[in-house]
Amino acid sequence: TLVTTTEMLQDAYQNNYAIGAFGAHNLEVIKAIIAGAEKEGVPVILQTTASTYKYVEMSYMIALAKAAAEQAKVPVALHLDHGESFKVVMECLRAGYTSVMIDGSHLPFEENIQLVKKVVEAANAINIPVEAELGTIGGVEDDLQVDEQNAFFTDPELAERFVKETGIQSFAPAFGTAHGKYKQEPKLQFELLEEIHRVTNLPLVMHGASGVSEASVRKSLQYGIAKVNFSTELKDLFAEQLRAFFLENPNENDPRKYFLPAREALIELVQQKIVMLQK
Ligand code: 13P
Ligand code: ZN
Ligand code: NA
Repeated sequence: TLVTTTEMLQDAYQNNYAIGAFGAHNLEVIKAIIAGAEKEGVPVILQTTASTYKYVEMSYMIALAKAAAEQAKVPVALHLDHGESFKVVMECLRAGYTSVMIDGSHLPFEENIQLVKKVVEAANAINIPVEAELGTIGGVEDDLQVDEQNAFFTDPELAERFVKETGIQSFAPAFGTAHGKYKQEPKLQFELLEEIHRVTNLPLVMHGASGVSEASVRKSLQYGIAKVNFSTELKDLFAEQLRAFFLENPNENDPRKYFLPAREALIELVQQKIVMLQK
């Protein structure tokens, strides 16, 4: 069965490592994520935005994630990434997601708090943990687009209030990462992260980890980062592999053949990311 992210994140947080959370877009990708986690023997988070579960269809999404969790030799959670409304969160809770993010980061501070509080009350009532974001993480994530110029770092004082008043289980700060690719290696604000870590005392989440160097990811583990989100690098690799396959084999029509190299490559990438997150 799918587990919640509560215990895995607490353990990671207490012991200075992180859980990988990977964008789960379809069957092949889900199987690759699970296989990678199994090879490394660590818990893993399958995560989807609302647009992904709409694409896959909710009943399929849940069935796939449950089947994965049933067979996997490691704990598996299904997490809603960047939930944009109370309604979207409710849909996921009802369907069987075991962890949710509510993203009110575009709202004024007090409105963000009110929305997150409401979500925490509903989700925690059935023991589902909640992640929330304050500040703005730049870049593009599905329907969400934030100009990097308009990305604001999280204010630690506000973070402290936000965490206290909302009662969330994990916190996503803006400290220099962005969704999607980077024009150059981002300069992460580690002093800021350290301060946020000190005042929030909660597992922290790194968004936008595609394109962040191994050194920076590893350094962040010292400052409370306990969940690391990867999406773009997986999508890029999967697409690259398919393109390469069809260039070599323009007449192949069997999905059981053309998906295979992409899936194999993805397993290795997931393993590589997971290894990066260990102590
Ligand atoms: P990347 O696409 O940069 O890996 O970001 C993923 C993410 O933060 C999902 O919420
Ligand atoms: Zn994100
Ligand atoms: Na990124």
